[in-house]
Amino acid sequence: MKRFKWQEDIVYQIYPRSFMDSNGDGMGDIPGITSKLDYLEALGVTKLWLCPVCCSPMADNGYDISDYDHIDPVFGTDEDFDRLILEAGKRGIGIVMDIVVNHCSSEHRWFRNALEDPEGPYGKYFYIRRGTVEHGSPVPPNNWRSFFGGSAWEPIPGTDLFYLHLFAKGQPDLNWENQNLREEIYAMMNRWLVKGVQGFRMDAISYLQKEEGLPSYPADADDGLVSVKYGTLNKPGLIDILREMRDRTYGRDILTVGEAMGVTGEEMTDFIGLEDGVFSMIFDFSFNELNVKAPNYFWYDTRSWSIGELKEKMFGAHESTRDAWLGTCLECHDQPRSIDHYLPEEGRNFYGASMLAMFNLFRRGTPYIYQGEEIGMRNIRLASIEEYDDVSTKNQYQIALEAGYSPEEAIEFVYGMSRDNSRTPFQWNHSANAGFTNPETVPWLPVHPNYTEINAEDEAADPASLLAWYRCLIEIRKNSEILKFGDLEPEFRDEEDLVSFRRILDGRELLVVLCWRNCETELALSGIKKKLRLIADNYGDMKTDGKRLILRPYEALCAEMVSEGDV
Ligand code: GLC
Repeated sequence: MKRFKWQEDIVYQIYPRSFMDSNGDGMGDIPGITSKLDYLEALGVTKLWLCPVCCSPMADNGYDISDYDHIDPVFGTDEDFDRLILEAGKRGIGIVMDIVVNHCSSEHRWFRNALEDPEGPYGKYFYIRRGTVEHGSPVPPNNWRSFFGGSAWEPIPGTDLFYLHLFAKGQPDLNWENQNLREEIYAMMNRWLVKGVQGFRMDAISYLQKEEGLPSYPADADDGLVSVKYGTLNKPGLIDILREMRDRTYGRDILTVGEAMGVTGEEMTDFIGLEDGVFSMIFDFSFNELNVKAPNYFWYDTRSWSIGELKEKMFGAHESTRDAWLGTCLECHDQPRSIDHYLPEEGRNFYGASMLAMFNLFRRGTPYIYQGEEIGMRNIRLASIEEYDDVSTKNQYQIALEAGYSPEEAIEFVYGMSRDNSRTPFQWNHSANAGFTNPETVPWLPVHPNYTEINAEDEAADPASLLAWYRCLIEIRKNSEILKFGDLEPEFRDEEDLVSFRRILDGRELLVVLCWRNCETELALSGIKKKLRLIADNYGDMKTDGKRLILRPYEALCAEMVSEGDV
């Protein structure tokens, strides 16, 4: 099968507001990122995906872009960005831009023009529709509920018109049926490529195509509304838009990763086939929201889940992508911290965290590490909803109250699910403000109080730290053709609370065993005809007599399977 450079990448995701503040205003910025390139180089990553840094009124922290061609002053200047590309390049690190084109900001020139003249050319860049009037009040064109809660339609003052927004009302959806809009976007993407960016992360890309006629559907909750997903998720025609986008802009050799929900089974080949995919990869989100009930993802409506379910989802995703490629990830700026999300209380320690690291880094696919994951950053519990920043957190809190939960209960849902859990400032050292900003500055979101124990500087000095383990696994992966390119086959599939697989390339095999249990377990090796030669183990050694493995709590091991003759 054809091989690409991006299959060998290790991507590090940066949330610029929270990574490093260089000018003491309490908000991370681009010069701050540049100042930490040595740290990232030492970690071993090869690409940096930056969450949006373009001009934005920040209704959704940059995912509402008002000018696609310039850097928001809060993050620095256009020259700062050029310098980041240059300095990262010197270290063999490429910059991946977050491309947000399902919607723009309500402050974007296009949208302002559309409001002034809804019938004019810019009105056609958006979904603007006439509502109806019932009992003297305006009623939206359909019953879709936005992802962030409430109707997905916002009235345009002084008219009987509404505009569609799948996310916040400051994020009007762009109309991809309009060829002029498409041309503008392609030209913009090409300008970034000329500047030297080496990849694109495609935000909310499954929603570009809307169902013909924007129909209402039967309500799926008591509010009488229905998730926007029904009318917008991965609709027929989407793949044609994406093919055109690929052919007009990035092509096949540049890393592109789709945040592409709803792509399953046979569609995987069209989206991410190694032969002719529209993206190099999409994120494997197959198991990351097992704890909430689709399609609404109300944070109050959680469910319990098992490791068995997680592994079957993960294996299922691999089975449907044998001729394709995934991006593996456990964390991002939209998810809680992985230690809190995937491990029970008793596993939230070095062993659990280092096991998750191997789970993410040794699967088939290009791994993504989210800032702070490599040092074991954790969820935060802020005192009240007022202290939270995230628009979806505030909405979900409100939704819980409206569903009859008390403020105390509603804040508990926020603790478990809030996107601000992963957005707190990076913990660089154990000095005031964790070294993220000046000691006297109040950061935009509170620093997690655990920074004196969990921080990059202390971990860099400790060979037994989580950070040291990440560096070691990254190094192993970069030097292993099997881990980079090999197939993945499930192993010990029926063993409860155990995730295990083989990675296979040209007759050579590695065994990965991840023990999601808090007690010692004996594992018979009768099915494994080869000897195990240890490559990495978070306990430092492997306990085996050749016939059995003795697994310790949250042990993670990777061993080469060698025939007698090879030993
Ligand atoms: C994506 C982003 C998320 C944002 C949303 C709207 O899901 O990851 O942070 O809120 O799109 O742009």
